Amino acid sequence: MDESLPSLGRVLFTAEEIRARVHALAATIADDYAARPPLLVGVLKGSVVFLSDLMRALALPLTCDFIAISSYGAVSARSGVVRFLKDLDAPIEGRDVLIVEDIIDTGLTLRYIVRNLLERRPASLEICTLLNRPPRRLAELPLRYVGFDLPDVFVVGYGLDYHEHYRNLPYIAILEDQAVMASLR
Ligand code: IMP
Ligand code: MG
Repeated sequence: MDESLPSLGRVLFTAEEIRARVHALAATIADDYAARPPLLVGVLKGSVVFLSDLMRALALPLTCDFIAISSYGAVSARSGVVRFLKDLDAPIEGRDVLIVEDIIDTGLTLRYIVRNLLERRPASLEICTLLNRPPRRLAELPLRYVGFDLPDVFVVGYGLDYHEHYRNLPYIAILEDQAVMASLR
C-alpha cells in the first residue's frame, strides 16, 4: 500500500443506503423515460460504479455510452476548460440523453460537457448525479436527479477516487486528511 495514501475517516453513506437511494432514483427515472428510451452517458471514470448499479435497477429499454474528460490543473479546472479524452461512440441527435455523474462540485466540468453535448442537438438532456456538493458551486446547472447532498468534505469510494485509489470501496467515506479539499480550490 502506498504510504502516502491518506487513511479513511467515517463512512458517510453505507452500501445499503446507497443501494436504496439508487433504486429510488431508478424508479423515478423509469417513470420519466417510460415512453422514450434514454441514452445514459457515463462520465469516466468516477461514474462507472453508480452507472452499473443504476442501469441494472432501470426496468426500461436503454442504451449507454461513455465520455472521458480531463481538466488541466487547478487553473484550467477553474476556468472550466476541459479536453475530451474519449468522445461518445455515436451521434446523439434526437436522443433523450441522461448524463450520469459521480459528483458535482464546482459544476465547471459538467457545464462544459453540457454545452458541448447540446450542440449535437439531442431531443433532451438531463443530469443525474450521485452526489451534489452545493457549497463550492461556481456554475449553476439544472440537476434533474440527485442521490445525496454533500457537506464541504472530500469523499472516496463507490467510484470516487483519491489519486485513483479507493474507487472499489462499496461505501462512501470521508478522507481523514481533509487538506485535500484545499488543493481542489
Ligand atoms: P467540478 O464539478 O468541475 O468541480 O468537478 C467534479 C469532478 O471533480 C468530479 O467528477 C470528480 O472527479 C472530482 N471530485 C470533486 N470532488 C470530489 C470528491 O470529494 N471526491 C472525489 N472526486 C471528487
Ligand atoms: Mg475524479
